[in-house]
Amino acid sequence: MRKNIVAGNWKMNKTLQEGVALATELKEILKNEKPNCEVIIGTPFIHLATVAEVIKGSVIKLSAENCADKESGAYTGEVSAAMVKSTGAEYCILGHSERRQYYHETYEILKEKVLLALANDLKPIFCIGELKEEREAGKQNEVVKAQLEGSVFNLSAEDFSKIVLAYEPVWAIGTGLTATSDQAEEIHAYIRSLIADKYGKEVADNTTILYGGSCKASNAKELFSKPDVDGGLIGGASLKAPDFKGIIDAF
Ligand code: 13P
Repeated sequence: MRKNIVAGNWKMNKTLQEGVALATELKEILKNEKPNCEVIIGTPFIHLATVAEVIKGSVIKLSAENCADKESGAYTGEVSAAMVKSTGAEYCILGHSERRQYYHETYEILKEKVLLALANDLKPIFCIGELKEEREAGKQNEVVKAQLEGSVFNLSAEDFSKIVLAYEPVWAIGTGLTATSDQAEEIHAYIRSLIADKYGKEVADNTTILYGGSCKASNAKELFSKPDVDGGLIGGASLKAPDFKGIIDAF
């Protein structure tokens, strides 16, 4: 079902102790609240099991930021989807542009990761989005279409329905340059039309599509007011509980 979601992506920030402190603070400020959206925090692997305990009994849900493209075995340093699931996490961010760019995650690798996440009962938050040069060349639609076709349009309608999408224009990530709400709406509507072409209108209408890229309390309300923007995937502004709460309050 389509939902409003505000999800944090801590990226490679916070020691375990700092992460526990942040999760504790967030739990505390949401204690007497009934947010009009689902609240998720995406933390580094090492935080997951401990943060899962911290947020028990709160509205906050937990996500990993990645998982391996292999099931198990001799892959030193990797963390499998089954391991992520065993921590208590419900979601797994996959296909973030930083993973595509710096760790060379291809459409094929991401396709495997998505399948393994789903096989282990994790809901992927699958990220797509174009580079600055691609936007300047007017290629953003082509790019997101190829990303969907390359890694998730192989899924059955039933499995696709378990995925949350996040449109994150790379030029807006961590740059302070947010897409305008009209730019976000235009491409979100396009993404929804691609889903409708592939899986039908009902699946498309039920897909949650988040916006990410310099989203903060001051612009969230305007972005979330658009019909095809169902929430945000938040980097920098998820690292301070009051800032993150300000975005949750936008709903
Ligand atoms: P910022 O909110 O820091 O721009 O990061 C967005 C992002 O990459 C979330 O996944």
